[in-house]
Amino acid sequence: MKSVSSNVELKKMVGQRAADLVKDGMRIGIGTGSTVVFFIEELARRVQNGLRIQGAPTSLGTRLLCAQHGIPLLDSMTINHLDLAIDGADEIDPSLNAIKGGGGAHTVEKIIASMADEFVLIADQTKLVSSLCRKFPLPVEVIPASLSFAEKEIRRLGGMPALRNAVRKDGPVITENGNFILDITFSDPPGDLEVLNAQLKRIPGLLETGLFAGIAKKALIGYQDTVETLLPRES
Ligand code: 5RP
Repeated sequence: MKSVSSNVELKKMVGQRAADLVKDGMRIGIGTGSTVVFFIEELARRVQNGLRIQGAPTSLGTRLLCAQHGIPLLDSMTINHLDLAIDGADEIDPSLNAIKGGGGAHTVEKIIASMADEFVLIADQTKLVSSLCRKFPLPVEVIPASLSFAEKEIRRLGGMPALRNAVRKDGPVITENGNFILDITFSDPPGDLEVLNAQLKRIPGLLETGLFAGIAKKALIGYQDTVETLLPRES
């Protein structure tokens, strides 16, 4: 088990390496989280040295950091295609299905990932798992009016929803879209995640899940001394 500080080094290595995937003239999606911060910092260095790119941020935090670093920005309201998107993950399975949403940004992250020709996950090795939803809960974004109904429906599907609470604010986390996050755990791990995803998406008022199934075609994983590129294993 790695210490937190060594994970930071792995995140830094992998975030910096991801910048090699960005070519001059690209329009890129820029994810959210502590691994992506290192990607943004390296990207900014390259932009200062003449790399011409435009970035579509997935959250206010990412927008602010990019703006502070002089990275030219796109507005997701006005775009429907990107060359590449880079983002972190909370869990990644051997098929490169992922759980995201630890930072509560997964709705916009999924929109940005889905409009990119290539979506690449970046993570340290602790994020690799043999099956999703065993350790890390599955986050879903729910509009306030649906909270209680969504909780009931999630229980009916075998999940245990927990309203995500804010840390330095009283009450629940409010997403950048004005909604709540339910973190779902399972006593019996779900069999077919795509079926579960479709069932969850049918709940009125449940906006988006943190399950990114079949979207990533590549992952850069940071190990102690190296960064490895993983491709999806055929399931
Ligand atoms: C935010 C996310 C993040 O990408 C995910 O939580 C990973 O974050 P980190 O790189 O800090 O471990 O999905 O919604």
